[in-house]
Amino acid sequence: MKRDFLALAQIDSSQIERLLKRAAFMEDKISGEFKTLDILKGKSVVTLFYENSTRTRCSFELAAKYLGAQTVGITTGGSSVKKGESLIDTAVTLDRMKADVIVIRHSVAGAPALIAKHVGASVINGGDGLHAHPTQALLDMYTMQKTFGSLKGLEVAIVGDVKHSRVAQSNIVGLAKMGAKVKVFAPNTLMPKGIQNQPCKVCKNAKEAFEGSDVIMGLRIQLERQQKGLFPSVEEYSRFYGVSMERMAMCNKGAIVMHPGPANRGIEIDCDVLDSDMCLKDYQVTGGVVTRMALLEWCASSAETDC
Ligand code: CP
Repeated sequence: MKRDFLALAQIDSSQIERLLKRAAFMEDKISGEFKTLDILKGKSVVTLFYENSTRTRCSFELAAKYLGAQTVGITTGGSSVKKGESLIDTAVTLDRMKADVIVIRHSVAGAPALIAKHVGASVINGGDGLHAHPTQALLDMYTMQKTFGSLKGLEVAIVGDVKHSRVAQSNIVGLAKMGAKVKVFAPNTLMPKGIQNQPCKVCKNAKEAFEGSDVIMGLRIQLERQQKGLFPSVEEYSRFYGVSMERMAMCNKGAIVMHPGPANRGIEIDCDVLDSDMCLKDYQVTGGVVTRMALLEWCASSAETDC
């Protein structure tokens, strides 16, 4: 039976732990001069991206190559999607080319789950609408675990446009499973409906969010998904909700800053914070490659063997 990876809700804490452990093994392997393994030799991985991406798409392609797989990358601009081909027809076409894994990013929530029902290849969700970005949450948890040794009891504040953030949604689910304490902080207009029912504390002010936190996860203001009027101005948003050095001083000693990228410099996060040693955005990118290697290995292996 094939393995799809559509959301963190489908795996438990022990499976996440095993994926993170395997990612550490992969990091060790690709840190040397010769990065290529033959774990996925003879397999093929297709990245099918209906939305823009630098990190997710390139890291999946490199992860697959480092594992010895053949890779093909498709973006809507250069494909028959531009001629009107449907999502399912496109996915089935790739499937019949004997793709073993299809990694998809789509603006519509549920698109990866839909194609997973129509193809024999394993499907990995590379981000779907406002629903989930599970591989981002995996790499974020990997970064935190490498820094602090464990996720259990870690206090993580997610700050910014929570409403439009599939990164926030997946991190809330994943971190709660791993025993971290999650807080969220955003203007009311940028909080999703039903946030009170999720396993996180909704902070009323910056002090509540930053004080006692080990990790501050800044979120991009998603200007492309915004309706007008969700906050008065970019300057005011930055002043009241931005991640600044002054606010970081309220966190626990040794606290880190993370950002999934791409960041709007000087809007949701100040440049001096983004460029400081406490910000692990660049290590997150490396974590993205190795966690995706671990995940590709898991998807390509038999469902009878656990991760
Ligand atoms: N964090 C993230 O998903 O970045 P990309 O949009 O560049 O893939």
